[in-house]
Amino acid sequence: MPKEIDYNWKMESDYCGRILKGRFSEALKKKAAEYISLFQKLNTTANPTIPYISAWAEGRNHIWYEFVGSRLLELMSCKASDAAQIFGECVTTRCSFGYQAEEDLVREFLKADEIKKIRQKLRLESKEKGVVEAVYQLTLPSGKSVWLKDQATVEYYDLDNICLSLGTLTFVTREMQAVELTIKTEEEQQQYKTLLENQLREQNKKIWQMQLDMVYRLARASKLRDAATGFHITKVGYYCQILGKAAGIRGDKLKLLYHASPLHDVGKIGIAESILQKPAKLTPHEFEQMKNHSVIGAKLLSGNDSGLLKVARLMALSHHERWDGSGYPFGLSRNQIPLAGRIASICDVFDALTSDRPYKQAWGIDASVAEIEKGRGRHFDPQLLDLFLKSLPAIKEVQHHFGQGLQP
Ligand SMILES: [Fe+2]
Ligand SMILES: [Fe+2]
Repeated sequence: MPKEIDYNWKMESDYCGRILKGRFSEALKKKAAEYISLFQKLNTTANPTIPYISAWAEGRNHIWYEFVGSRLLELMSCKASDAAQIFGECVTTRCSFGYQAEEDLVREFLKADEIKKIRQKLRLESKEKGVVEAVYQLTLPSGKSVWLKDQATVEYYDLDNICLSLGTLTFVTREMQAVELTIKTEEEQQQYKTLLENQLREQNKKIWQMQLDMVYRLARASKLRDAATGFHITKVGYYCQILGKAAGIRGDKLKLLYHASPLHDVGKIGIAESILQKPAKLTPHEFEQMKNHSVIGAKLLSGNDSGLLKVARLMALSHHERWDGSGYPFGLSRNQIPLAGRIASICDVFDALTSDRPYKQAWGIDASVAEIEKGRGRHFDPQLLDLFLKSLPAIKEVQHHFGQGLQP
């Protein structure tokens, strides 16, 4: 028979713990007995909480109850000596709460297998903090699920290397169901948002494809009227991309520049074939008519606010403007001329020089570069011209790829 301890509380036959029976210091035994006595009284009052005293040896895995409220035993249908183990087996989720900022509540949910992995860490934390505060979801042997809030203070007895957790368990099933519902709603809202975003992305992709399709159909239509210019619009597209990149244009804007450029001469649809395909230099009158292609193109591309058509419209309208204001249709100068127009202007002239035309043969690169240089500060933006010349290796590659004199 274990020795009876003469404190406020006398060991009873249903004592489930180890401290009072084991080789521990008298001080610890005395403390444990006092607490058990106190918690027993708590257990008999009409208290909605379940009092318990658990204990473990620091650094060891095993945990046991020195005292456990009768309602928990009823709940788990077990003896007090098995309660700690059964409680551990019933836990499916552990939720802890914390505040990041003043009102920013953070919930952390751990599932049973995760709890097992960090059990030692959790115990060490509660020993260091001196408190335990967490909510446990238990799936009881009956299959019923309950949430219990655990609030305890933790005392460490270094002489015996024992931690005592003096706590209460409170039923919070309804509250946690409300939390779960809120989380579910938040998750559903997030899922719905993601679904909408994906749909929107898909729609935008389709619209973009439709726009590209329309751009290239229109470009092909204008090319049919102006077959003598061969790969002109294709090459100008690549040149614009190279020069745009050299000028610091990136991402979607560079994509717009590249895809808009095939339309820079789309207005030629409205110019008489006799002018477009004339195998000689145009008369001043014919040239005046030819000039209209910039405005006709801009009109064709107006009335739509898509990024692609906006850039295409600006380019069509301004690719014959000149840096010194002597170009057409408006005589804009310097930075009044949209960047897309200034870029297209250099690329357009370079390709015209290096290509065969009904009225002339293709010039070599050196002669074409020399000719373009003459237009520095008069026809062309000097800074862009520098960038173009720096990009000549890439430009030559494109030119080489399409081959001089080839027809589409
Ligand atoms: Fe043009
Ligand atoms: Fe052109």
